[in-house]
Amino acid sequence: MGGTPVLPSELALTRFPADPRERLRAWDAADEYLGRQLGEGVDLSGRVVVFGDRWGAITTSLAAAGVRVTQISDSYLGQQATAENLSRNGESPADAALATTVEDFSGPIDLLLVRVPKSLALLEDQLWRLRPFVGPDTTVIGTGMVTEIHTSTLQAFERILGPTRTSLAVRKARLIFCSPDVGMARTQNPWPLTYQLPDGIGVASGHPVVNYAGTFSADHLDIGTRFFLQHLPSRSDAARIVDLGCGNGVVGLAAALASPKAVLRFVDESYQAVASARATFAATFPPGTRDAEFRAADGMAGFEPGSVDLVLNNPPFHSHQATTDATAWRMFTGARAALRRGGELWVVGNRHLGYHGKMKRLFGNCDVVAGSPKFVILRAVRI
Ligand SMILES: C[S@@+](CC[C@H](N)C(=O)[O-])C[C@H]1O[C@@H](n2cnc3c(N)ncnc32)[C@H](O)[C@@H]1O
Repeated sequence: MGGTPVLPSELALTRFPADPRERLRAWDAADEYLGRQLGEGVDLSGRVVVFGDRWGAITTSLAAAGVRVTQISDSYLGQQATAENLSRNGESPADAALATTVEDFSGPIDLLLVRVPKSLALLEDQLWRLRPFVGPDTTVIGTGMVTEIHTSTLQAFERILGPTRTSLAVRKARLIFCSPDVGMARTQNPWPLTYQLPDGIGVASGHPVVNYAGTFSADHLDIGTRFFLQHLPSRSDAARIVDLGCGNGVVGLAAALASPKAVLRFVDESYQAVASARATFAATFPPGTRDAEFRAADGMAGFEPGSVDLVLNNPPFHSHQATTDATAWRMFTGARAALRRGGELWVVGNRHLGYHGKMKRLFGNCDVVAGSPKFVILRAVRI
């Protein structure tokens, strides 16, 4: 099965959640370059697997040509975008198999397409995980913007799969061609990584933290998170606590240690992060010894109004500025809606990000719990 892929530029594609004030495209020259390449005689009749497709442009362009794709994604938002983009273009979301980076994979791959992710660790980890299903006849094609493809990116393909070369750049995008060498000697996938928390950070000092590849601050404690941990109350009677944007779950772990009776909920849009938080929690509280819930979701979506006593949040700050602001705003409004009266939202952030104004506008109050030259910890109470 499979005709010629419909190019992303010919499809109606949006990000998720679609924000009418933001006109950021849901595809780029790297997706388009790959689409053109696939239209030039690449065999699409076997099992096609796509990893790293950000908003579903590659998956939708293949589905529109009748090719059933297995998409492997680390992003809940990316997966939602893919499902919506498939529908928007007249395909059923069931026309693609939407899988996550943390699920077990099985069966041979005929064509592996890789949209190079921002995190090299995530790329390496996924190549390691997919390697057993790649054979000498598997076609492997990567794509990315020139600024995203480094020597280390190509070395990852070389080291894990086999000899690799790149195409000429077209509109600042490049393709990667890798010829799998199944006989090559290899080392082992190092992920997930575990480290011990340092002393001097309150109740969580000395506890292990488990990090799946691509998780925020995966090999050391971030300085903003450290500052947050140092200023969280060492004892609290909050019963229902959410670690919002949990990453490896270190903030929720500290809250669980400080509130022995609390039920913790860990939320992140990254499946790798949710898996990390689950493993971090289990390393201190073995399964069955303490209740907790782990969700891949967009911020506080899905929480009942008034169902939470305390939300702890270190919002994302790395992506495109407008997107980052929109995410923080969604997190804060969602937190306000989920908190009971008297419940609190605690946020740590870089001073210059101006979260104080946003929280004050939403909650009508906002105190500074602690400040350093770089960071500020803010608290707003739902009244
Ligand atoms: C700055 S990191 C904080 C991680 C961890 N809490 C810490 O302090 O080390 C922000 C986290 O927010 C997550 N995130 C980004 N957008 C999100 C969204 N829309 N919903 C939930 N989590 C999101 C990211 O994946 C990332 O793990």
